[in-house]
Amino acid sequence: MVQDDILKVLVTEEEIEQRCVELAEQIEADYQKEGTVPVVVGLLKGSVPFMAELIKRFKFPCEIDFMKVSSYDGTESIGDVRIDLDMQISAKERPILLVEDIVDTGRTLVEVKKMFKNKGATDVKIVSLLDKPDRREFEIEADYVGFTVPNEFVVGYGLDYNQKYRNLPFIGVLKPEIYE
Ligand code: XMP
Ligand code: MG
Repeated sequence: MVQDDILKVLVTEEEIEQRCVELAEQIEADYQKEGTVPVVVGLLKGSVPFMAELIKRFKFPCEIDFMKVSSYDGTESIGDVRIDLDMQISAKERPILLVEDIVDTGRTLVEVKKMFKNKGATDVKIVSLLDKPDRREFEIEADYVGFTVPNEFVVGYGLDYNQKYRNLPFIGVLKPEIYE
């Protein structure tokens, strides 16, 4: 069982569900105040379980879509984000709510946010299940955060190690021998 590879659980399924109720209420209040209909965009693949848990609690009108991006390190100039799979709905003149699994260095979200502004989005907000502030290199904060996690590699609830463990219903840390 994949559960056997887990050293410790950081966030339980119940804690995630409860937090999604709170986040959904907060997000709903903000969009109702603005009176706008956002496009909720999940960043594949890590956001899928969190996105599902969150949006089923929204009682305000919204549209949903997905996209897959890779931001790359090294020689590429900042401002580059490769779109592996684009969304279907146009972002032009729309408020966007980006759904992400984790904000780590911040590179991905800095790039994606810039890209949405270039596409003509009127507003870009970010909701992330996890935040790992100790790793931040780029100046960005999610508007809504589920849980702050320590500087450890985490898996589960969408987050993977070599594409595995996304299906775990909790957030956990892998046993060291799994990496070796
Ligand atoms: P940046 O650095 O752009 O990274 O904020 C965001 C992406 O990096 C991945 N990431 C992780 N994936 N466990 C994972 O399974 C982690 O602890 C972790 N930290 C970063 C993730 O894909 C995220 O979208
Ligand atoms: Mg990701």
